[in-house]
Amino acid sequence: MNISDFQPKEQVVTLGALSEFSATLIPFLSKGMVLGLKGDMGAGKTTFVSSLAAHYGAQNVSSPTFALVNIYEGDLRIYHLDLYRLEDEASLFSIDIDRYLHPHDGISLIEWPERLGRLAPVGMPVLSFAYDAEESRRVSLLTT
Ligand SMILES: Nc1ncnc2c1ncn2[C@@H]1O[C@H](COP(=O)(O)OP(=O)(O)OP(=O)(O)O)[C@@H](O)[C@H]1O
Ligand SMILES: [Mg+2]
Repeated sequence: MNISDFQPKEQVVTLGALSEFSATLIPFLSKGMVLGLKGDMGAGKTTFVSSLAAHYGAQNVSSPTFALVNIYEGDLRIYHLDLYRLEDEASLFSIDIDRYLHPHDGISLIEWPERLGRLAPVGMPVLSFAYDAEESRRVSLLTT
């Protein structure tokens, strides 16, 4: 199954239910996939990644590039990138971004994918987290 088959394309999810929501995505995830995670600060992107990693039984968390990349080792390896603090496009090359845009041995989940600029993969699926109410978020699957 491909991520483009994931339904519904938009749903309202509370922060507390993000873990269950992330579990529903698992059948659509496979090695090599790159998924962008868009949304304002506090929208739930990191909470989503943490709960997904937990479903895969992630054991250890390491950070080869301080603050920008975390690797979660579980049944499926997750490369978690948070590009919020990325200073400029040149910094993408210094973290060897190509490796994470082609994650043959795992999947990449990229917060603030807008920062990829022209390096963003064409057609990259993006999960968008938008504020709905205090603890509820409108989560949509977009294709860029
Ligand atoms: N079960 C829960 N109930 C209520 N609040 C929660 C729950 N789980 C997480 N939160 C809160 O929801 C917010 C989500 O923050 P999170 O770090 O996931 O956002 P983010 O989209 O990654 O933001 P950033 O762009 O700053 O990285 C946090 O304030 C967190 O404390
Ligand atoms: Mg975050």
